[in-house]
Amino acid sequence: MQTITVIGGSGELGGGLALRWVKAGLQVIIGSRDAGRAAQVAADINAAAGNDLARGMENYPAAEAGDIVVLTVKFDHHKAMLEELRPALKGKILVDTTVPLVPPKIMRVQLPEGGSVAVIAQRLLGPDVEVISAFQNVSAATLKSDAEPECDVLVTGAKAATRQTVIELVEAAGFRGWHAGALENSAAAEALTSLLIFMNKKYDSDHAGLRITGIGQT
Ligand SMILES: NC(=O)c1ccc[n+]([C@@H]2O[C@H](COP(=O)([O-])OP(=O)(O)OC[C@H]3O[C@@H](n4cnc5c(N)ncnc54)[C@H](OP(=O)(O)O)[C@@H]3O)[C@@H](O)[C@H]2O)c1
Repeated sequence: MQTITVIGGSGELGGGLALRWVKAGLQVIIGSRDAGRAAQVAADINAAAGNDLARGMENYPAAEAGDIVVLTVKFDHHKAMLEELRPALKGKILVDTTVPLVPPKIMRVQLPEGGSVAVIAQRLLGPDVEVISAFQNVSAATLKSDAEPECDVLVTGAKAATRQTVIELVEAAGFRGWHAGALENSAAAEALTSLLIFMNKKYDSDHAGLRITGIGQT
Protein backbone atom coordinates (compact mmCIF):
# COMPACT_ATOMS: atom_id res chain seq x y z
CA MET A 1 0.00 0.00 0.00
CA GLN A 2 1.27 3.49 -0.83
CA THR A 3 2.03 5.84 2.03
CA ILE A 4 0.88 9.44 1.83
CA THR A 5 2.85 12.00 3.81
CA VAL A 6 1.12 15.24 4.70
CA ILE A 7 3.61 17.99 5.52
CA GLY A 8 1.73 20.45 7.75
CA GLY A 9 -0.66 17.64 8.61
CA SER A 10 -1.33 19.20 12.01
CA GLY A 11 -3.03 22.13 10.25
CA GLU A 12 -6.49 22.86 8.92
CA LEU A 13 -6.22 21.58 5.36
CA GLY A 14 -3.62 18.87 5.96
CA GLY A 15 -5.41 17.47 9.00
CA GLY A 16 -8.71 17.36 7.12
CA LEU A 17 -7.18 15.57 4.14
CA ALA A 18 -5.30 13.13 6.37
CA LEU A 19 -8.48 12.21 8.26
CA ARG A 20 -10.35 11.54 5.01
CA TRP A 21 -7.53 9.38 3.62
CA VAL A 22 -7.20 7.37 6.83
CA LYS A 23 -10.97 6.85 6.88
CA ALA A 24 -10.64 5.60 3.28
CA GLY A 25 -8.06 3.01 4.38
CA LEU A 26 -4.85 4.73 3.20
CA GLN A 27 -1.63 4.84 5.21
CA VAL A 28 -0.83 8.43 6.17
CA ILE A 29 2.17 10.04 7.86
CA ILE A 30 1.52 13.35 9.59
CA GLY A 31 4.53 15.64 9.18
CA SER A 32 5.13 18.45 11.65
CA ARG A 33 8.01 20.54 12.96
CA ASP A 34 7.31 18.80 16.27
CA ALA A 35 7.33 14.99 16.45
CA GLY A 36 5.16 15.02 19.57
CA ARG A 37 2.50 17.15 17.88
CA ALA A 38 2.59 14.89 14.82
CA ALA A 39 2.12 11.79 17.00
CA GLN A 40 -0.81 13.39 18.85
CA VAL A 41 -2.55 14.43 15.61
CA ALA A 42 -2.03 10.93 14.20
CA ALA A 43 -3.49 9.38 17.37
CA ASP A 44 -6.53 11.68 17.16
CA ILE A 45 -7.03 10.77 13.49
CA ASN A 46 -6.78 7.04 14.25
CA ALA A 47 -9.32 7.43 17.06
CA ALA A 48 -11.71 9.33 14.76
CA ALA A 49 -11.25 6.86 11.90
CA GLY A 50 -11.39 3.73 14.05
CA ASN A 51 -8.17 2.26 12.69
CA ASP A 52 -4.40 2.55 13.09
CA LEU A 53 -3.28 3.87 9.69
CA ALA A 54 -1.88 7.26 10.73
CA ARG A 55 1.46 7.91 12.38
CA GLY A 56 3.40 11.07 13.07
CA MET A 57 6.96 12.20 12.40
CA GLU A 58 9.02 15.34 12.02
CA ASN A 59 8.70 16.82 8.54
CA TYR A 60 11.99 15.60 7.04
CA PRO A 61 11.75 11.90 7.97
CA ALA A 62 8.05 12.09 7.12
CA ALA A 63 8.89 13.27 3.59
CA GLU A 64 11.52 10.53 3.30
CA ALA A 65 9.07 7.83 4.38
CA GLY A 66 6.17 8.80 2.10
CA ASP A 67 5.61 7.60 -1.47
CA ILE A 68 3.58 10.72 -2.28
CA VAL A 69 4.13 13.92 -0.32
CA VAL A 70 1.37 16.50 0.10
CA LEU A 71 2.44 20.01 1.10
CA THR A 72 -0.07 21.89 3.26
CA VAL A 73 1.73 24.87 4.78
CA LYS A 74 1.04 28.57 4.30
CA PHE A 75 2.58 30.48 1.37
CA ASP A 76 4.91 32.30 3.83
CA HIS A 77 6.59 28.95 4.63
CA HIS A 78 6.41 27.36 1.19
CA LYS A 79 9.90 28.17 -0.11
CA ALA A 80 11.77 27.42 3.12
CA MET A 81 9.92 24.14 3.59
CA LEU A 82 10.68 22.96 0.04
CA GLU A 83 14.35 23.93 0.36
CA GLU A 84 14.53 21.91 3.59
CA LEU A 85 12.74 18.88 2.14
CA ARG A 86 14.28 18.88 -1.35
CA PRO A 87 16.66 15.92 -0.86
CA ALA A 88 13.88 13.83 0.71
CA LEU A 89 11.51 14.52 -2.20
CA LYS A 90 13.80 13.19 -4.92
CA GLY A 91 11.97 10.75 -7.22
CA LYS A 92 8.56 11.46 -5.64
CA ILE A 93 5.32 13.22 -6.46
CA LEU A 94 4.78 16.44 -4.52
CA VAL A 95 1.16 17.54 -4.32
CA ASP A 96 1.19 21.30 -3.73
CA THR A 97 -1.99 22.73 -2.18
CA THR A 98 -0.57 26.18 -1.48
CA VAL A 99 -2.56 29.31 -2.23
CA PRO A 100 -0.44 32.47 -2.57
CA LEU A 101 -2.44 34.52 -0.09
CA VAL A 102 -0.75 37.71 1.05
CA PRO A 103 -2.42 39.00 4.23
CA PRO A 104 -4.19 41.23 4.87
CA LYS A 105 -5.71 41.35 1.35
CA ILE A 106 -6.53 37.67 1.06
CA MET A 107 -9.74 38.37 -0.89
CA ARG A 108 -7.71 39.83 -3.79
CA VAL A 109 -5.82 37.72 -6.30
CA GLN A 110 -2.08 38.26 -5.75
CA LEU A 111 -0.27 35.67 -7.82
CA PRO A 112 3.49 35.54 -7.19
CA GLU A 113 6.25 36.45 -9.58
CA GLY A 114 6.75 33.31 -11.61
CA GLY A 115 3.00 32.97 -12.20
CA SER A 116 2.01 30.34 -9.68
CA VAL A 117 3.18 28.75 -6.44
CA ALA A 118 3.17 25.30 -8.02
CA VAL A 119 5.40 26.45 -10.87
CA ILE A 120 7.77 28.03 -8.33
CA ALA A 121 7.84 24.69 -6.48
CA GLN A 122 8.65 22.77 -9.66
CA ARG A 123 11.48 25.20 -10.52
CA LEU A 124 12.88 24.98 -7.00
CA LEU A 125 12.73 21.17 -6.83
CA GLY A 126 13.92 20.48 -10.38
CA PRO A 127 13.15 17.58 -12.67
CA ASP A 128 13.70 14.87 -10.03
CA VAL A 129 10.36 15.75 -8.41
CA GLU A 130 6.97 15.76 -10.14
CA VAL A 131 4.87 18.62 -8.79
CA ILE A 132 1.11 18.31 -9.08
CA SER A 133 -1.21 21.07 -7.90
CA ALA A 134 -4.56 20.28 -6.25
CA PHE A 135 -7.01 21.12 -3.43
CA GLN A 136 -6.63 24.93 -3.51
CA ASN A 137 -10.40 25.35 -3.82
CA VAL A 138 -11.53 22.98 -1.06
CA SER A 139 -12.15 24.50 2.37
CA ALA A 140 -11.06 22.89 5.61
CA ALA A 141 -14.71 23.17 6.69
CA THR A 142 -15.74 20.95 3.78
CA LEU A 143 -13.04 18.41 4.64
CA LYS A 144 -14.23 18.22 8.25
CA SER A 145 -17.91 17.90 7.36
CA ASP A 146 -19.59 14.50 7.11
CA ALA A 147 -21.90 15.84 4.39
CA GLU A 148 -21.33 14.74 0.77
CA PRO A 149 -18.90 17.33 -0.72
CA GLU A 150 -20.52 19.59 -3.31
CA CYS A 151 -17.24 20.84 -4.74
CA ASP A 152 -14.70 19.48 -7.20
CA VAL A 153 -10.89 19.50 -7.29
CA LEU A 154 -8.84 20.79 -10.22
CA VAL A 155 -5.62 18.83 -10.73
CA THR A 156 -2.78 20.30 -12.82
CA GLY A 157 0.67 19.01 -13.68
CA ALA A 158 2.91 18.08 -16.55
CA LYS A 159 2.11 14.38 -16.97
CA ALA A 160 -1.38 12.94 -17.37
CA ALA A 161 -0.41 9.68 -15.66
CA THR A 162 0.86 11.52 -12.58
CA ARG A 163 -2.25 13.73 -12.50
CA GLN A 164 -4.30 10.51 -12.61
CA THR A 165 -2.44 9.15 -9.58
CA VAL A 166 -3.37 12.31 -7.69
CA ILE A 167 -6.97 12.21 -8.97
CA GLU A 168 -7.22 8.79 -7.33
CA LEU A 169 -6.16 10.41 -4.05
CA VAL A 170 -8.74 13.15 -4.60
CA GLU A 171 -11.40 10.49 -5.10
CA ALA A 172 -10.24 8.59 -2.01
CA ALA A 173 -10.84 11.82 -0.07
CA GLY A 174 -14.42 11.83 -1.37
CA PHE A 175 -14.21 14.44 -4.14
CA ARG A 176 -14.46 14.48 -7.91
CA GLY A 177 -11.06 15.34 -9.36
CA TRP A 178 -10.47 16.67 -12.87
CA HIS A 179 -7.47 16.81 -15.19
CA ALA A 180 -7.07 20.58 -15.64
CA GLY A 181 -3.94 20.66 -17.79
CA ALA A 182 -0.38 21.85 -17.39
CA LEU A 183 1.12 22.93 -14.07
CA GLU A 184 1.03 26.56 -15.28
CA ASN A 185 -2.79 26.29 -15.15
CA SER A 186 -2.48 26.03 -11.38
CA ALA A 187 -2.42 29.85 -11.46
CA ALA A 188 -6.17 29.77 -12.17
CA ALA A 189 -6.95 27.46 -9.23
CA GLU A 190 -4.65 29.44 -6.93
CA ALA A 191 -6.35 32.70 -7.99
CA LEU A 192 -9.89 31.36 -7.57
CA THR A 193 -9.39 30.80 -3.84
CA SER A 194 -9.39 34.56 -3.19
CA LEU A 195 -12.77 34.75 -4.96
CA LEU A 196 -14.10 31.90 -2.81
CA ILE A 197 -12.86 33.60 0.40
CA PHE A 198 -14.61 36.80 -0.73
CA MET A 199 -17.80 34.87 -1.49
CA ASN A 200 -17.70 33.09 1.89
CA LYS A 201 -17.66 36.51 3.54
CA LYS A 202 -20.28 38.03 1.27
CA TYR A 203 -22.72 35.10 1.58
CA ASP A 204 -21.92 34.16 5.19
CA SER A 205 -20.48 30.71 4.50
CA ASP A 206 -17.24 28.82 5.21
CA HIS A 207 -17.28 26.29 2.40
CA ALA A 208 -17.84 27.97 -0.97
CA GLY A 209 -16.46 25.72 -3.69
CA LEU A 210 -16.40 24.97 -7.41
CA ARG A 211 -18.39 22.46 -9.44
CA ILE A 212 -17.41 21.44 -12.97
CA THR A 213 -20.42 20.81 -15.20
CA GLY A 214 -20.89 19.62 -18.76
CA ILE A 215 -18.47 16.69 -18.70
CA GLY A 216 -18.94 13.20 -17.32
CA GLN A 217 -16.70 11.50 -14.85
CA THR A 218 -13.79 9.78 -16.59
N1 LIG B 1 -7.48 26.15 5.37
C1 LIG B 1 -8.14 26.00 4.22
O1 LIG B 1 -9.39 25.98 4.20
C2 LIG B 1 -7.37 25.87 2.92
C3 LIG B 1 -8.09 25.64 1.74
C4 LIG B 1 -7.39 25.48 0.54
C5 LIG B 1 -6.01 25.59 0.53
N2 LIG B 1 -5.34 25.84 1.69
C6 LIG B 1 -3.88 25.95 1.65
O2 LIG B 1 -3.35 24.93 2.48
C7 LIG B 1 -2.15 25.40 3.09
C8 LIG B 1 -2.29 25.20 4.60
O3 LIG B 1 -3.31 26.03 5.09
P1 LIG B 1 -3.90 25.80 6.55
O4 LIG B 1 -5.02 26.76 6.71
O5 LIG B 1 -4.14 24.35 6.75
O6 LIG B 1 -2.65 26.27 7.41
P2 LIG B 1 -2.37 26.16 8.98
O7 LIG B 1 -3.40 25.35 9.64
O8 LIG B 1 -2.14 27.54 9.53
O9 LIG B 1 -0.91 25.53 9.03
C9 LIG B 1 -0.52 24.31 8.50
C10 LIG B 1 0.69 23.85 9.25
O10 LIG B 1 1.84 24.62 8.91
C11 LIG B 1 2.82 24.41 9.94
N3 LIG B 1 3.57 25.65 10.17
C12 LIG B 1 3.18 26.72 10.88
N4 LIG B 1 4.16 27.65 10.89
C13 LIG B 1 5.18 27.14 10.18
C14 LIG B 1 6.48 27.60 9.85
N5 LIG B 1 6.94 28.78 10.26
N6 LIG B 1 7.26 26.79 9.09
C15 LIG B 1 6.82 25.59 8.68
N7 LIG B 1 5.60 25.09 8.98
C16 LIG B 1 4.79 25.87 9.71
C17 LIG B 1 2.06 23.99 11.18
O11 LIG B 1 2.45 22.67 11.50
P3 LIG B 1 3.47 22.34 12.71
O12 LIG B 1 3.39 23.49 13.68
O13 LIG B 1 2.90 21.09 13.28
O14 LIG B 1 4.79 22.18 12.05
C18 LIG B 1 0.61 24.02 10.75
O15 LIG B 1 -0.18 23.00 11.32
C19 LIG B 1 -2.00 26.88 2.71
O16 LIG B 1 -1.06 27.01 1.69
C20 LIG B 1 -3.38 27.26 2.23
O17 LIG B 1 -3.34 28.27 1.25
C21 LIG B 1 -5.99 25.98 2.89
